[in-house]
Amino acid sequence: MDVESSPKKIHAAVREARRRGLTIGCVPTMGALHAGHVSLVQRARSENDFVVATIFVNPTQFGPTEDFSRYPRTLDADLEFCRAAGADLVFTPQVADMYAADAQTIVRVTGLSTVLEGAHRPGHFDGVTTVVTKLFQITEPDRAYFGQKDYQQQLIIRRMVQDLNLPVTIVTCPIVREADGLAMSSRNRYLSSEERGVAKEIFQALQLAEQLAGSGSDSPQEIADRMRVHLEGTGVLTVQYAVVADPETLVTQQTRVSGGAGVALIAAKLGSTRLIDNQLLNY
Ligand code: PAF
Repeated sequence: MDVESSPKKIHAAVREARRRGLTIGCVPTMGALHAGHVSLVQRARSENDFVVATIFVNPTQFGPTEDFSRYPRTLDADLEFCRAAGADLVFTPQVADMYAADAQTIVRVTGLSTVLEGAHRPGHFDGVTTVVTKLFQITEPDRAYFGQKDYQQQLIIRRMVQDLNLPVTIVTCPIVREADGLAMSSRNRYLSSEERGVAKEIFQALQLAEQLAGSGSDSPQEIADRMRVHLEGTGVLTVQYAVVADPETLVTQQTRVSGGAGVALIAAKLGSTRLIDNQLLNY
């Protein structure tokens, strides 16, 4: 496995792989890798001849009061995870390798980027879509792999790829969970042991939503209300949103359509740690 911080050298390496007729899979990450990321690299390994993982804590997707400076950086362990999962190449740029000081271009998906996460984290998705576009330009993948845990992110990236005719297939991989159901996240390590005990209630609320959707009587709005009551019942989770939305447009659903589909989405804070999770629903 090669490790390289220069965009030019990464580009040359993937071009060489392509010249040899290999298909290329890319797994963009911000490091602090866990089993969820490993599942993405493994999936990329199983579907492509050449696998590039990228590790870059992207400053432009963090708000001014967010955790950019304290975001966990665990490069040595990350490289071991990448090696074990079968990556061929790991791109580890510095900020100056990715952004010129006088850069003036952003990539923005309007609409989808303004709701839910976008409403609570203004500018976040502009940072994501801009850096992902740059990573696609540098690694020129046939397929790129993202986790369903960041449901809105993968939807926005799909929209961007479609709108900009980018020649890459987006693959969304299932959420990987801890034994008690908490979705794996690099930010889980911020939780105190008390907070960690409560964090599973987010998954419990999503399971409740799944049960209620399956049982067929509650409307999406009622399901969303029940999730909120469950979360607020912990006394410590601060709910930013708990909604049931259209899985493609993210427009909040009010009424139940038999045979329809939705997605339950939650963002909640535990102390200073912000957690998100989601569950696809069938009515
Ligand atoms: O999901 C992430 O880790 C990041 O948002 C991504 C896609 C790597 C862009 O920085």
